[in-house]
Amino acid sequence: MADIKKIGLLTAGGDCPGLNAVIRAVTKAALTRGLEVVGIEDGFAGLIYGRMRELDWNAVSSILSQGGTILGSSNRDNPFRFPRKKADGETEFVDVSDRVLDNIAHAGLEVLVCVGGDGTMSMAAQMAEKGVKVMGVPKTIDNDLAATDVTFGFDSALTTATEALDKLHTTAASHHRVMIMETMGRYAGWIALYSGLAGGGDIILLPEMPYDLDSVCRTVERRNSKGKRFSLLVVAEGARPRDGEMVVRKVIKESTDQLRLGGIGQKLADDIESRTGIECRVTVLGHLQRGGSPTAYDRILGTRFGVAAVELLCQGQFNRMVTLKGTEISSAPVSEVAGKLRRVDPDSEIIRAARAVGTSFGV
Ligand code: F6P
Repeated sequence: MADIKKIGLLTAGGDCPGLNAVIRAVTKAALTRGLEVVGIEDGFAGLIYGRMRELDWNAVSSILSQGGTILGSSNRDNPFRFPRKKADGETEFVDVSDRVLDNIAHAGLEVLVCVGGDGTMSMAAQMAEKGVKVMGVPKTIDNDLAATDVTFGFDSALTTATEALDKLHTTAASHHRVMIMETMGRYAGWIALYSGLAGGGDIILLPEMPYDLDSVCRTVERRNSKGKRFSLLVVAEGARPRDGEMVVRKVIKESTDQLRLGGIGQKLADDIESRTGIECRVTVLGHLQRGGSPTAYDRILGTRFGVAAVELLCQGQFNRMVTLKGTEISSAPVSEVAGKLRRVDPDSEIIRAARAVGTSFGV
């Protein structure tokens, strides 16, 4: 058993449904064991600027069903690569991790629970190298973290995307169009694959399976010739044609992952329309996928993850990330998670199942 008295808790990276369930679970499980919990504001920014506040029973009351994070988050503030304006107006990047160590010591934090995605786990691993005891909790709608089968937030995003596809279905059928839905997910196609499967998408395009435009157009035309005069196409923002690149919408230099993707849906609409003459419309779901109340699944997973994080810390297990393997909660070294992405396997059973019900992957 470890003799810990004070836990620091931060949520970093893009927000997602279920963060408050984790904050509530960590806080309640810790308070029950007589530990103090300090909430760090806006992810690693709070550690850099020393912005923290105590979390008590009252602070985490009635937040389970709320989207977002009561602590705030940031996907820009990296203590190991922090932007600073130079006299000439240019931005340079500096290491401010020693300042973070001072603030951690000043606040008396003995361990740091870091709730976040890939970027957050990389920073947590770097903090661990500097001697800070950390515990990771895997968050992201993208579902792309290594070592865990699922991240919390994914189910909520998937539910939003599936509902959207159901709604697009009616216009597709009424107007005999190709309705294209672009999902988030960065370099992994989990949201597109699962919502496409759940909503009966005719074509699903994933970053893991670069598509052939001829094949996509053939599927649309074949459906038309068989009297199915519409198609539902789900495309992940990171998808790309076999002979082309991902569509980058923006580059944010201060961000851990500098690329912001987006626009592949419109490119496909233009390409399909000019090749087939069939009318296309695009819906980019964007941040709708990150918003709103978490599903029951994410509330439960977030609660299990949060409680497990505190239990592991009390057992003296540090520098790990809690995971879900099958139906069991477990953990893995945070250093093994950092920098690795879990992507869709094109040869997996779920892809075979989708193909078996007639889904095209445009290959
Ligand atoms: O990682 C979560 C995510 O929502 C990605 O799916 C998306 O590419 C990115 O974050 C968007 O980031 P931002 O909120 O900075 O636009």
